[in-house]
Amino acid sequence: MAERLELAKDYSISRVINGCWQLSEGHSLQAKLDMQDVMKAFHMLAERGFTTFDCADIYTGTEELLGEFLTELKEGSTLSPHDIQIHTKYVPDINLLSEVDYSYTEKIIDRSLNRQKRDVLDLVQFHWWDYSVPGYLETAGDLLKLKEKGKIRNIAVTNFDTKHLREIVDAGIPVVSCQNQYSVFDRRPEKELLDYCISKGISLLCYGTLSGGLLAEKWIGQTTIQPETRSHVKYFQVIEDTLGWDGYQELLVLLEAIAKKHSVKVSQIATKYILSQQGVGASIIGVRNSRHVESNTQIFSFELDRTDIEEIKQFLDNYPIVEGEPFELERTVDSKYRNIMKMNLNEE
Ligand SMILES: NC(=O)c1ccc[n+]([C@@H]2O[C@H](COP(=O)([O-])OP(=O)(O)OC[C@H]3O[C@@H](n4cnc5c(N)ncnc54)[C@H](OP(=O)(O)O)[C@@H]3O)[C@@H](O)[C@H]2O)c1
Repeated sequence: MAERLELAKDYSISRVINGCWQLSEGHSLQAKLDMQDVMKAFHMLAERGFTTFDCADIYTGTEELLGEFLTELKEGSTLSPHDIQIHTKYVPDINLLSEVDYSYTEKIIDRSLNRQKRDVLDLVQFHWWDYSVPGYLETAGDLLKLKEKGKIRNIAVTNFDTKHLREIVDAGIPVVSCQNQYSVFDRRPEKELLDYCISKGISLLCYGTLSGGLLAEKWIGQTTIQPETRSHVKYFQVIEDTLGWDGYQELLVLLEAIAKKHSVKVSQIATKYILSQQGVGASIIGVRNSRHVESNTQIFSFELDRTDIEEIKQFLDNYPIVEGEPFELERTVDSKYRNIMKMNLNEE
């Protein structure tokens, strides 16, 4: 069964969260997904203790899909909708930031409640595309009002850097978690964010841990990748700026050796390494099918020993860490990280 974490008082989550960006329109660059198989994967994961799901207001169709999943649970399953935690996001469009006010925020939260068929949202992760547009503190305050009104159970943030997370916390917003990219390729949270989160009891919920599936045996010995998903495009950029292709190949070989020692797979070592870092609450792993369910349950069947962790860390320390704070390059105009993002999906 998946390990659990008490993320907030009376609120526990699985330490591997099922990610749903993969199920939104446009994420797959090639094949169309088999949605029946996806629903099967949801049931299989939940039955194995992976009861927490990550979606977003801007991941088209995913909140509705999770609403359907909850309905299926009501109609005959050992689990009930109350056994499931749905983490959504509030991501106002970049073009609308200057107009965001309480009533707009409440409209989007109500839309998420309707889509998910819930009376209260378990966790809302707040995102703000551009710190130079004022309003993020006020908007976080509006989320707190909606929490007090009973529409939101827990408030969280996503893609905030240390400075701006600190501002939100200092303003009295009870942030329980911060969702950011953190993997063997992208170690920006190690600069400052992780320490700050630990000091405030905020859990880091990490995405990119498997880098869209690029941390797997099948890539050993390859000379290039043909991106199949938007995740591949995103994480390939991070490899270019850190390990490079040769370093990536060497890392895969190292992870494979450790995986063989524990009779597991490269993906499980990459996930476990991130889960073993202090301050990390959970890793979010994207779901596209039922193919990886059994393999992902193996994450909790073994422990990395101190030598494994040290060996991986020493290897990574030979390579640069991505420049800046978490999500800083993604916010920098004309950077390649920013150029691949869609920043006006909420009103589409
Ligand atoms: N806040 C944000 O801005 C943000 C950004 C990105 C992602 N996220 C969240 O994080 C989630 C994860 O997204 P991600 O882009 O970081 O992807 P990821 O979790 O790193 O990669 C997911 C892919 O890894 C492969 N995979 C899964 N289990 C595997 C296993 N056991 N062995 C080998 N491969 C395996 C699958 O690919 P195949 O099916 O192709 O094999 C799957 O589609 C998203 O769904 C979303 O919820 C949030």
